[in-house]
Amino acid sequence: MQTWTSSKLPESAEPVIITIFGATGDLTARKLLPAIYNLTRDGLLHDNTVIVGFARRAKTDEQFRNEMLEGAEKFSRSSPIVPGIWEKVAGKLFYHQSTFENSGGYTRLAKRFEQLDKQYQIGGRRLFYLATSPSEFAQIINHLGEARLGHIDPFSAAAWRRVIVEKPFGRDLATACELNRQISHVFDESQIYRIDHYLGKQTVQNMLVFRFANGIFEPLWNRNYVDHVQITVSETIGVEGRGAYYDTAGALRDMVQNHLMQLLTLTAMEPPVTLDGGAIRDEKVKVLRAMQPLTVEEVENRTVRGQYVGYRQENRVDSKSETETFAAVELLIDNWRWQGVPFYLRSGKRMPKQGSEICIHFKLSPGVLFAAPDKHVSNNVLVLRVQPKEGISLLMNAKTPGSRIVPAHMDFNYDVAFGSYSPAAYERLLLEAILGDSTLFIRNDEVEGAWRMMDSIESGWAAGKPPLVMYPAGTWGPVEAAELLCRNGHAWDALIDNSARELVIDAEY
Ligand code: BG6
Repeated sequence: MQTWTSSKLPESAEPVIITIFGATGDLTARKLLPAIYNLTRDGLLHDNTVIVGFARRAKTDEQFRNEMLEGAEKFSRSSPIVPGIWEKVAGKLFYHQSTFENSGGYTRLAKRFEQLDKQYQIGGRRLFYLATSPSEFAQIINHLGEARLGHIDPFSAAAWRRVIVEKPFGRDLATACELNRQISHVFDESQIYRIDHYLGKQTVQNMLVFRFANGIFEPLWNRNYVDHVQITVSETIGVEGRGAYYDTAGALRDMVQNHLMQLLTLTAMEPPVTLDGGAIRDEKVKVLRAMQPLTVEEVENRTVRGQYVGYRQENRVDSKSETETFAAVELLIDNWRWQGVPFYLRSGKRMPKQGSEICIHFKLSPGVLFAAPDKHVSNNVLVLRVQPKEGISLLMNAKTPGSRIVPAHMDFNYDVAFGSYSPAAYERLLLEAILGDSTLFIRNDEVEGAWRMMDSIESGWAAGKPPLVMYPAGTWGPVEAAELLCRNGHAWDALIDNSARELVIDAEY
């Protein structure tokens, strides 16, 4: 993993042409151009970084630049947009009009590359970003292959070619394998960067440092000391104009297969032998391989699927939709470290709070000393707060000035400790792809391993096991989700929404 931390140009950021397919879509204006603007502002890109937006609609370079400026103004993490820096970006921002199926569009693109390459001394380096609907991925890749745009010249290894593929990567194991197969006809695995923007978040990256740079946690990080693990990603928003896509996906495919499974593998993996992308991803894959696909009976007993009331009235959602907007699952990892430790995952839309957390619940201390009914002792819980207010918190038992025992939190907050500089996930990921480090991207076997688990759940759900249950918008999902944990004597954590959890102490003390 790259260790760049300052706002200096990393030595290896080289001139490159970044081609964004689907350049008139939401992702480009919302995330990609703001990311490129901020990377430019921080001096992290080479001055000769050229961006080509590839899309269907007719548009001039000028119109495209103006639209991207609007996007940057609205969505950039730093504002206002500094005209001098934007001009730097806009001066090398171009539009290329073509449909995705027209091979002529790619031959024209190749010609354009030649001319831009000469003008800006790019040295043949190309980064392709597939920001289109997933149904277009395969044909874009095919055309890139036909036009020999993905091809690496063996006599000029520095002229690298890479492709970033947006999610969703397939909609089940079969389609993911097929997509992997199609991409592999044109690009070698080392050239493929499958994105999961959760891996660009600071706290997610910090999990490796936290786990493996601190000697005190690793000895406790196993079935002997951990009672169970909870991973929650909750959103207050609904489907926000993405009804057509979301209704074909649902919470399991949209969130659990990728973001939550990534958090799970990073939490559960063994220490890698080195910090390089291959070693880290090997360990993540071993976790997936230690998980058995669920039987229909297990799906019925260990999963919950819910839909918020009002979802069927959302724009471009089927009025009889059976798509889940909430999913909760209990997964087990059959290896020496984790055998018998439940990992509970939940994710939903229209929840009461927005937040992502990993909570490691440790086993209770022996109850011999504080066994009186008025002395309630809690489990120690380590909370890795991915967002908002990234940080880490440890719940401990403490004595109040009277004689009560209450839970108290020891809190570490990123912003407080290191200031509020926190590059957006897409900045980090774009830069890593330009630098050629794939650690924060997903390998083919990771995608397939996660789909294998999801497929088993989807097939139970397709048989109505368990049935879809409704929950009122603004609540923590269906009551069945609470029962899922209750059966094992557990309960979902309340999400932390500020740096310190509220400490409620009885007034009498
Ligand atoms: C995306 C999902 O991958 O992640 C969206 O498609 C979801 O449905 C989003 O809203 C959540 O990302 P974040 O960074 O806001 O937690």
